Parts: sequence; structure tokens; C-alpha cells
Amino acid sequence: MSDSNDKKKPVNYKDLIIDQNWNDYTNVQHETWKMLYERQIEILEPRICVEYLDGLKLLDISPDKIPDFNEVNERLRAATGWEVVATKGLIKSKAFFDMLRNKKFPSGTFIRAREELDYLEEPDIFHDVFGHIPLLTNPSYAAYMYEYGKGGERALEFKTTKHLARLNWWTIEFGLIARDGKAKIYGAGLASSFGEAKYCLDDPSAHHIHFDLERCMRTKVYISDYQASYFVIDSFDDLFNQAVNTDFSPMYKAFKGLEGYIPVEELLPFELYPGDQVLRKGTLDYIKPKRKELEESLSI
Ligand SMILES: [Fe+2]
Repeated sequence: MSDSNDKKKPVNYKDLIIDQNWNDYTNVQHETWKMLYERQIEILEPRICVEYLDGLKLLDISPDKIPDFNEVNERLRAATGWEVVATKGLIKSKAFFDMLRNKKFPSGTFIRAREELDYLEEPDIFHDVFGHIPLLTNPSYAAYMYEYGKGGERALEFKTTKHLARLNWWTIEFGLIARDGKAKIYGAGLASSFGEAKYCLDDPSAHHIHFDLERCMRTKVYISDYQASYFVIDSFDDLFNQAVNTDFSPMYKAFKGLEGYIPVEELLPFELYPGDQVLRKGTLDYIKPKRKELEESLSI
């Protein structure tokens, strides 16, 4: 996970990598993993894209034990050249981008307490590994992640990391993908959430909007509750192509209101806007009673 508020001091991303210390996990922790895995996979099987399930199998990520990064990485490296690396705490934008463009995905090592299966203050190994890693076996998805990391440099230059963080949010964390006329999950925030994995598809509350890169970068984010909108990509190839073929500089200049560029307004996650290709107009029934509170908590 990244934090968009970069301060001056540059950090070498390598200094943030720690040992997983896999042997230190207790039986209780392995049991917690098993409980989380088993209840989640039942929800995901009919709702998640097949590439995710293929990745889970390929990496042999099973309910039996917390994954050992050394074992996972042998398979992941062979598939796409990526690795999962253990890190401590939240990682700031620059280090996060540096990791991604070096094909390293940062993961926490701790696992939530058994009494708090649905409550998380910061992402744990279940979110980071179960949620994020399986799709890194898919070449197009992995290529998008690499491009995202590379793109970070320009966002840092323009001081628009907030906008790039929003893109991460609406794709890698909470993205949906179109499959045979239906939306399926691919975002890690959805894949690892017991409640939201069902809510995003089964509950008619949230809007489903066809993915548009600029729209995502302009749409503000709250992190405290289920989302009011989800963006649906056509395919991982399309996501990658949009990221590679978009010239971000004019967009960033407009975001910053630089001279000669018409400033663009920021958008709210609750609203539909002209130009949206709406795939499902949500009722917003879940969101309406909380809207004021959520609007005040918009943080990215
Ligand atoms: Fe995440």
C-alpha cells in the first residue's frame, strides 16, 4: 500500500524490505489464515475473474498455511518475473513506485487477530498476498503494474501522486472486469473483503461505470466503507494499453491548473457524470444514509 503524502527525504526501497521470518508464525496464525481463506474462496469462486483463480493455483497459495514468500516467489518469478517482498508499515509513494518498477510487490507480514477477522487498520498479509499476488501471474496485469510503477516518476515530478493513487484505488484495489456481459472482481480490496466481495456485485447500491483512465484519476476516494462506484475494465490488455498509450503530461498539467490548460474539476465517487458509460446505475441505498459522513472522509 502506498501513502500519497511524500515528504522530502528519498528512501531507497531496498532498505524497506525485511525478512518474512516465516518460521515465526504460530499455529494460531496459520489457523487464522485458513479461516480467512476458506470463507473467502467460497464467495470468490463465482464472482472473481478466472485469471485470479488460475494464479492462486499456479502459486500454490492454499488454506493450509500462511504462504512462504520464498516458495511463492519461485513460481511467481517463473511466470512473470515478479516477486512479493516483506515490508514493514506503510510505504510512501516514491518507494512504492520504485518497488513496482523493479517488479517487487510489497506485503505486510502480520496477520489480523482471529477476533477481528473483518476489522483492519492497515493491510495485512491476507490482503496483500491473497488479494494482490495471484493476478501478478497474469502477463498483462503484471505489465500494467510495472507501467504504473514507471509512471510514478512523472507523477512525482508534477506532484500528482494523489491522482495516480486514485487510479491504483479504482483499478488494482477495487476494479471490476467485464466477462460475458457480467462484471467480475479483480481488485485486491474486493478479493480480500468478506463483505464487499458480495456487496460490489450482488447489492444493487453501487454504480458500475465503464473504466476511463482520466475519470478514475479525477474521482476522489474514501477508504472507510464500501464503495459507491466501481469501474469496469474490458480486459487486462485494455487496461495496460490505456496506461501505455495515454500521455499523462497534459492531464497532469490540467489537474494542476497550469497556464494554458483548462483546470478540471475533481469528481465525487457517489455521482454519475456526463460522458460516463454507465453499465449499472446504482440505487445508492447503502450509501445514502452515510453520504455526508463519507463526503467528509474523502481522503485521496
Ligand atoms: Fe492493497
